[in-house]
Amino acid sequence: MPPTSLHIRDVLVTPNLVLAPMEGVTDLPFRRMIRGIGGCGLTWTEFVPASQLAAENRRALAMLATDPDERPFGIQVYGREPAILADAARMAQDHGADIVDLNMGCPSKKVCAHSGGSSLMREPLLAARILRAMRAAITIPLTVKMRSGWDAGSRNAPELSELCVSEGVEAITVHWRTRADLYGGERRLDTIAEVVDRVRVPVLANGDVVDAPSALDTLRQTGAAGLVIGRGAVRDPWVFRTIEAALHGQPAPVVTQARRVALLHEFLDALRARFPSDHAVLGRFKKISKYFTEGLDDDGALRTSILRGQSLAEVEAHVLGWRDRNPVCAPHAHG
Ligand SMILES: Cc1cc2nc3c(=O)[nH]c(=O)nc-3n(C[C@H](O)[C@H](O)[C@H](O)COP(=O)(O)O)c2cc1C
Repeated sequence: MPPTSLHIRDVLVTPNLVLAPMEGVTDLPFRRMIRGIGGCGLTWTEFVPASQLAAENRRALAMLATDPDERPFGIQVYGREPAILADAARMAQDHGADIVDLNMGCPSKKVCAHSGGSSLMREPLLAARILRAMRAAITIPLTVKMRSGWDAGSRNAPELSELCVSEGVEAITVHWRTRADLYGGERRLDTIAEVVDRVRVPVLANGDVVDAPSALDTLRQTGAAGLVIGRGAVRDPWVFRTIEAALHGQPAPVVTQARRVALLHEFLDALRARFPSDHAVLGRFKKISKYFTEGLDDDGALRTSILRGQSLAEVEAHVLGWRDRNPVCAPHAHG
């Protein structure tokens, strides 16, 4: 039987299904939506730049916002300066995080150029110094999220994971892709399985878990303690409930397309209530809609019209137009 819960030290994660940190996506409204639907045992902020947090930048501080009932809740930070990351970790703890995570997986040039994100996988000594400083700064659990390696020739997640654990890291998320894979590459889970063999802390497997079959297969192939789900949750916020049901041998919830589109509309309202600038709301709404509209009748047309929308009023009209054109909808297919 696959595991259904896990502990990160004394933090219970149940079910063992975790929302991945996603820049521009996993803000408070998105996490509220996921928590409201259920089936998710841990939520993460999008990555927060440690240097901006340490400088008490207003936007960075706003990213730490949580709800009293969003528990457990983790804050992910990125950067390269040990002292600054230690400050950022302390601030995350002070703002009520249950867990602090160091990003060692982001492939973006912007982040890697400053030796943050996945470039830390090529600088294990710097990674160790950062983790030591963060560990000394906080009492709550410290975790890391990494890729399987930098490229096909350097799949060093297993060695690096051992190093992280020796610096006090208490859980590790491993995305099966290397940095060179970016968002492509050929799915192979053996490096995650090797990490599971090497370390005694919980390992969470990540990458292309989108439904019950992919979830069960990933748990079986890796022996991981839990799963971290990103784009699959944006495409289908019910995915956690679907997988949770499968872990308990129960049928998946049935969600109509009309309910999905109603949720998309509610989400637009939630973004408007949270972010003062229309520009920020529009950017975030488009990022979500790109995935969320997949699988709806007429999905290409809805997606394209939202992505081309120039104003909030325009994108809202497209959502409501879809609703009016599709008064009776087939259930959305769940895998
Ligand atoms: C829009 C977007 C933003 C992301 N931002 C972050 C981030 O802030 N921190 C991080 O560790 N990973 C980030 N990732 C990577 C995801 O957390 C995850 O590792 C990756 O998408 C693979 O999982 P998935 O196949 O379930 O999406 C991001 C991915 C996407 C698609």
